[in-house]
Amino acid sequence: MKKIAVVGAGQMGNGIAHVFAQTGYPVNLIDVKQEALDKAYATISKNLDRQIAKGTLSEEAKASTLANISLCTDMASACADRDLIVEAATENIDLKLKIFGQLDSFAPAHCILATNTSSISITQIAAATHRPQLVIGMHFMNPVPVMKLVEVIRGYSTTDAVSQQVTELSKAIGKIPVTVNDYPGFVANKILMPMINEAICTLYEGTAGVEEIDTIMKLGMAHPMGPLRLADFIGLDTCLSILRVLHDGFGNPKYSPCPLLVNMVMAGKLGDKKGEGFYNYADPKNPVVAAAFQKS
Ligand SMILES: NC(=O)c1ccc[n+]([C@@H]2O[C@H](COP(=O)([O-])OP(=O)(O)OC[C@H]3O[C@@H](n4cnc5c(N)ncnc54)[C@H](O)[C@@H]3O)[C@@H](O)[C@H]2O)c1
Repeated sequence: MKKIAVVGAGQMGNGIAHVFAQTGYPVNLIDVKQEALDKAYATISKNLDRQIAKGTLSEEAKASTLANISLCTDMASACADRDLIVEAATENIDLKLKIFGQLDSFAPAHCILATNTSSISITQIAAATHRPQLVIGMHFMNPVPVMKLVEVIRGYSTTDAVSQQVTELSKAIGKIPVTVNDYPGFVANKILMPMINEAICTLYEGTAGVEEIDTIMKLGMAHPMGPLRLADFIGLDTCLSILRVLHDGFGNPKYSPCPLLVNMVMAGKLGDKKGEGFYNYADPKNPVVAAAFQKS
């Protein structure tokens, strides 16, 4: 696999394009919005500067990484000669089914179609194509350039050869792949999301405030980030979508999303990417508890 495309240039798409480009792969980064592409390119450039400041990257390597990235809004031409396409668009089942139908018609017959979905069935996504044996989950963690894990998810029809190729490729870009089976939430989010949901319920029930909950989980459980801060970082819309997939998939009320999370998503308070969630990010380096959760 030599030529890569990444569909969706949001927080995950820019990170995925970054790691492939930095390890020498030409990447077509595709989005429906030119502004998302421009923002992704600026983010990648800023993150490469951070690596230079740490002494882990040279100016030449930054230039060659950026030169490997092409920004595209025309999915058809951007997929025509690719060997692997990693979809990282918004976590929405209908959108993903539509995109995979399009990718199937635009990409060459040998091209592997991977999805970075956090929870949606790989088997269902694969069924939207005529090549379910070439469809696989490649679940990167956020922030992609920093986090080592790739959860590789085998759909019902994914072949051993495809799973092997994706595993080898993940290692080639400096990641540690772990292969799992295709059930709702896979492994990472089946365990993480109930904890985040429970933290939101704890706030909703008035047991403790935002800072108290996050401090207890940081100091008490040695988590690097509290669950409410992590929910903001992931995106509250993404958290809600994952919980709905778990709830629908297992039919168990323990996955029912907290009404506070539902309300916040409806109000557009999605976390870091919208400037406010449980915290306010007017100064992104010094988030403060959002006004709605400040104690009087
Ligand atoms: N946020 C996380 O921490 C995290 C972690 C692992 C996996 N994921 C998964 O990664 C995927 C992307 O999440 P994100 O946080 O980067 O979302 P995001 O909202 O930051 O970005 C999504 C991008 O997809 C683009 N998009 C929407 N429709 C499109 C289309 N038809 N074609 C091309 N681009 C389109 C949007 O314009 C946007 O730029 C989701 O499936 C999510 O579940 C997220």
